[in-house]
Amino acid sequence: MKEYDLIIIGAGPGGYEAALDAAKAGMKTALIEKEALGGTCLNHGCIPTKSLLHAANLYKNIQEAGLFGLKAEASVDVTAVQARKNEVVAQLRSGIAAQMKKAKVDVYEGTGRITDAHTVRVGEEDLSARFLMIATGSKTFVPKIPGAELAGVYTSDELLEQDVLCDHLVIIGGGVIGMEFASYYSAMGKQVTVIEAMPRILPAMDKEISQSLKMLLKKKGVDIHTGARVEEIREGLTVVFTEKETQQTVEADGVLICIGRRPNTEGLFEGEPPVEMERGFIHVNENGQTNVPSIYAIGDVTGGLMLAHEATAEGRRAVEHMQGKTPAIRADIIPGCIYTEPEIAAVGLTVDQAKEKGLAADSQKYPMTANGKTVVEGAERGFIKVVYEEGTHKILGAQMMCERATDMISEFSLAITQDLTLEDMARVVRPHPTFSEAITEAVR
Ligand code: NAI
Repeated sequence: MKEYDLIIIGAGPGGYEAALDAAKAGMKTALIEKEALGGTCLNHGCIPTKSLLHAANLYKNIQEAGLFGLKAEASVDVTAVQARKNEVVAQLRSGIAAQMKKAKVDVYEGTGRITDAHTVRVGEEDLSARFLMIATGSKTFVPKIPGAELAGVYTSDELLEQDVLCDHLVIIGGGVIGMEFASYYSAMGKQVTVIEAMPRILPAMDKEISQSLKMLLKKKGVDIHTGARVEEIREGLTVVFTEKETQQTVEADGVLICIGRRPNTEGLFEGEPPVEMERGFIHVNENGQTNVPSIYAIGDVTGGLMLAHEATAEGRRAVEHMQGKTPAIRADIIPGCIYTEPEIAAVGLTVDQAKEKGLAADSQKYPMTANGKTVVEGAERGFIKVVYEEGTHKILGAQMMCERATDMISEFSLAITQDLTLEDMARVVRPHPTFSEAITEAVR
C-alpha cells in the first residue's frame, strides 16, 4: 500500500492550495479528484462567472462610450463569450496541474472513499496516510418544487454552459449567485425576474446594500419580488409564486434555481461515517480537525460562508496544525465579494450584527458621488461604510458598494486583523485620484 503523510480528497482551492503548502513543508502528499482540478471555483463558479461578467461589463462600457465622446458599436456573440470563458478555465486548470507536478504532489483521478482513519480507496487502490483532509466542497441544490425537473430549468452549473442566452430568465433565490446572474443577463440585454423568499435580496448583507442593489437593478429593468414563495413551474415555463398572499405568474424561457448549496459527503465513507456530521456538513474545530484526530475537513463541506478564499485559508491552517504549529491565518475574518455592477464587498460586522453581539457600534459612510475617479469613469453611485466600536473607534467591519470594492475591501480585512482604529486608517496617505482615497474619507 502506498504511504503518504497527507491525503487530500478534493482539488478545489481548499484542497490544491493545502497540497502545495504540505508539499512545501516536506510532507509526502496525495491529491484525489474525481472531476477536474480547480473544483467548483475554477470549473463551475468564481472563475467562469467572472469571465462572463467581465464580458458583460465591457459590453456595457462600449454601449456607454458616447458619454466619453467616443463612437462605438458592440454586439454579443454568446458562443465566443463562452469560448473565451472555457479558455480561461483551461489555462488556469493546466496551471494547477503544472504546480502539482513541480511540487511532487501525486494526483489521483477518481473518487476517494475513506475506509478507516488513515486509509482512502481510489478505484481498486488503497492509500494510507498519517493525516486525511476532506476538501470535497459542495454541490448545487434543487428543492422539491413541482416542475423543477422540466427542460429549461437550470442549476448555476448548467446555466453557465448554455451557448444561448434565454430572453427572459426567472431566478429563484436572490442570494449571491442570483444577483451575479441577474447582473450578467440584464447587462446582456435580457429580461430578468428575481423571486426571493426573504423580505430582501442578499438577506445576509447589510440592509443598505440590499436596498441600493435592488434600486440599481430595478433601474436596469430587473423585476424583483421579495417575500415571495415559488409554488410550481408549469410546462412551457410559467413560474407560479405567491407574494403578499397573492398568487402571480411569470412566463419565462429559462429558470435558474440558486437557493444555496449542499455539502459533498455522499458516498465519502465506507460504512458509518466516523466523523461527526450535521445535515451532511462535517463538524470541525478551529484547526479544521474532526472528532477523529487524523481526519481534517475544510471548505464548503464544513458549512460556513462557502467561499473559495475561506476554503484556502482553512486548508492552510489545517496543514500548519498537522505540523504542530499554531495556525497564523485568521480564517475567522473572511471578506465576502459579489461581482455585480458596481461590485459589493463586506468584511467583519454590520452595525446590526455588532449590536446583536452587545457591542456599542456606530458607522460612518462616504458616498462615492463625491469621489473624483468615480465621476471621471461615469461609474454608478455607491458608498463605503465603516463600522467601528464607539469610544475605542476600533474597526469592526466595512461594507462597500462601488468600483473595485472587491479589491479595496482587503484594507479593512487588514485593519480588523490588526485591531486598527479609525484614526490608524486615517493616518495613511492614499493617492489621488483613486477609488481608494474614498477609504480615507470614510474613516475620517
Ligand atoms: P445564498 O445562500 O447566497 O442565497 C440563496 C438565496 O435563496 C437566499 O437569499 C435565500 O433566502 C433564497 N431562498 C431560499 N429558498 C428559497 C425559495 N424556495 N424560493 C426563493 N428564494 C429562496 O446561496 P447561492 O446564491 O445559491 O450561493 C451558494 C453559495 O455560493 C453561497 O454560500 C455563496 O456565498 C457562494 N457564492 C459566492 C460567490 C461570491 O463570493 N462571489 C458567487 C457565487 C456563490
